[in-house]
Amino acid sequence: MKPFKLSSFWWLAILASHGWAFTLLQVLQTYPQLSALNTLVNSNANATALTALLVNANNFTFLAPSNTAISTFNSQNPGLLNSTLLLPTIQYGLLKGQYPTVLITNTPQFIQSNLSGPAYANVTGGQVVELVTASDGTPEFISGNRSISKNAAADVVCAGGIVHIIDTVLSIPLPLVQEITNAGLNDFVAILSADNYLAANATYVNQVLDLPDVTYFMPNSASALAVAQQLAKNSSAAELEANFQYYVVPEFAAYSSMLTNGMKLKTQQGTDLTVTLQDGDIYINSAKILISDLIVSNGVGHVLDDLLNRFDTAGPPPPTSSSTPSTPTPTAQNPAQSSMNMAAASTGGGMGTGAKIGLGVGVGIAGLLILSALLFFLVRHRKQSQVVADNAPWDNSSMSGATASPLNKFYVQRGQVQRQEDPGLGLQSTGMQHFEDSPPVGTALGRKESIRESSSKFVQIDGPTIPPRSPSRVQRGDGKSYF
Ligand SMILES: *[C@@H]1O[C@H](CO)[C@@H](O)[C@H](O)[C@H]1NC(C)=O
Ligand SMILES: *[C@@H]1O[C@H](CO)[C@@H](O)[C@H](O)[C@H]1NC(C)=O
Ligand SMILES: *[C@@H]1O[C@H](CO)[C@@H](O)[C@H](O)[C@H]1NC(C)=O
Ligand SMILES: *[C@@H]1O[C@H](CO)[C@@H](O)[C@H](O)[C@H]1NC(C)=O
Ligand SMILES: *[C@@H]1O[C@H](CO)[C@@H](O)[C@H](O)[C@H]1NC(C)=O
Ligand SMILES: *[C@@H]1O[C@H](CO)[C@@H](O)[C@H](O)[C@H]1NC(C)=O
Ligand SMILES: *[C@@H]1O[C@H](CO)[C@@H](O)[C@H](O)[C@H]1NC(C)=O
Ligand SMILES: *[C@@H]1O[C@H](CO)[C@@H](O)[C@H](O)[C@H]1NC(C)=O
Repeated sequence: MKPFKLSSFWWLAILASHGWAFTLLQVLQTYPQLSALNTLVNSNANATALTALLVNANNFTFLAPSNTAISTFNSQNPGLLNSTLLLPTIQYGLLKGQYPTVLITNTPQFIQSNLSGPAYANVTGGQVVELVTASDGTPEFISGNRSISKNAAADVVCAGGIVHIIDTVLSIPLPLVQEITNAGLNDFVAILSADNYLAANATYVNQVLDLPDVTYFMPNSASALAVAQQLAKNSSAAELEANFQYYVVPEFAAYSSMLTNGMKLKTQQGTDLTVTLQDGDIYINSAKILISDLIVSNGVGHVLDDLLNRFDTAGPPPPTSSSTPSTPTPTAQNPAQSSMNMAAASTGGGMGTGAKIGLGVGVGIAGLLILSALLFFLVRHRKQSQVVADNAPWDNSSMSGATASPLNKFYVQRGQVQRQEDPGLGLQSTGMQHFEDSPPVGTALGRKESIRESSSKFVQIDGPTIPPRSPSRVQRGDGKSYF
């Protein structure tokens, strides 16, 4: 299952025979596992803009979906990737900065991509992808609905950056209401309903859905629902509004890696939330984060085990004597661990976000060869010495809470509950966890001839822009809107 194989380096022979470094576009044109992506780019109505983006890219990590990833995605979402969704999907895979396998650790990193703009991402600086290693040490690229992509081939080096070929197409994060539905946060939906937040006159709900760079806290448990039902009975409309706004942090997309012990987060309501890191868990006031980092189109959401009380910002009860407060580690009584534990366990991370390899454009062939050899040995060394992280994956049971709610047939849209006609509503890219073998096939000469165009042809083309496009115009193949 090691994604890193000596046979991954067949392309070095091509580089050597050329005497110059491939551009990202040329990697697409020559790498057998990327032929489907290359075909999509060339046949797209905006092929010129797409190729310009790929040719001009610099200082990047590109997450390129393999042939298998694309065929799986196409079978679940026919007609999307060959039309309007290709450009945003490629932009989302084009990460800023260089992240070879050795720099992906059990401390999650949230890396900004080229995807930005009101059509797909109200996130300043670009929508993020989470980079983290799984418990077996393999890198994971986590996107919308915590969809996990893994390497089909890692660390393909080209001019200006690094390509990871991934086995699952990245899932572009959807607006909060769709992400809630897709993730199956049934108790949270029931809480929204119980406290009148889905009523048409609750305009303050719409308001925070349209802000950029927001953090949402989402209580999702049967006990939280029971209290929320009580609150609905004994609270005024103004109190309910203030309660709602206390779960929303504007102007700060607080990914778990940014949450530090004792941090205060200023809410939309006006008062603060307190962050506590304890026993490997993150608490918001006294509520524990069950699932962290649900990336949404305008920020991030974290699922809590309890309601928040704005009149009591105290943290959780202090740790018991048997636990080790100064060294956060995942605890046995918390099966619903998500990757946020690794953020808390920052003392265990070997390499920090800042430790990046500075590859420049036009790096010479000799440099590439040395770097590749270095990466190879670094990876081998790291795989052998890595402490296996107790980093349990996305936990299904914790998402849906204790009881199944009939409301899971509904979702919230612009403050109103709508019937969810299609349970697969939204982008899907789950299911495939398939490792393709690195392609040892073919000769360098054969692939060299498949380079159709030289990079110089594209250098003058302007970069693409996301067209102003009504989200509702993006349709599934069956005509259902998913935005
Ligand atoms: C995209 O593929 C679908 C079949 O999956 C096809 O019906 C449609 O015409 C294609 N669209 C374009 C623009 O090629
Ligand atoms: C191509 O780009 C134009 C404008 O930039 C946009 O209106 C159109 O939807 C795009 N077409 C596809 C297939 O992406
Ligand atoms: C590459 O990008 C990263 C992340 O955006 C940035 O921190 C770094 O300074 C850049 N390096 C170069 C050489 O531009
Ligand atoms: C995406 O790339 C294009 C072309 O290089 C650039 O103009 C644009 O600023 C980038 N967008 C983001 C959000 O980085
Ligand atoms: C971005 O925000 C604007 C309002 O500022 C909203 O109309 C649009 O739907 C948002 N886009 C996404 C993808 O959330
Ligand atoms: C989102 O992820 C959850 C948990 O893995 C899964 O049960 C659900 O089917 C996913 N939803 C979509 C629409 O992919
Ligand atoms: C309303 O009910 C909740 C939940 O039972 C309780 O905590 C709160 O004190 C009550 N508020 C008032 C004003 O009675
Ligand atoms: C919304 O309308 C309901 C009655 O339909 C009312 O009880 C509630 O107070 C109103 N909420 C707001 C915020 O005006």
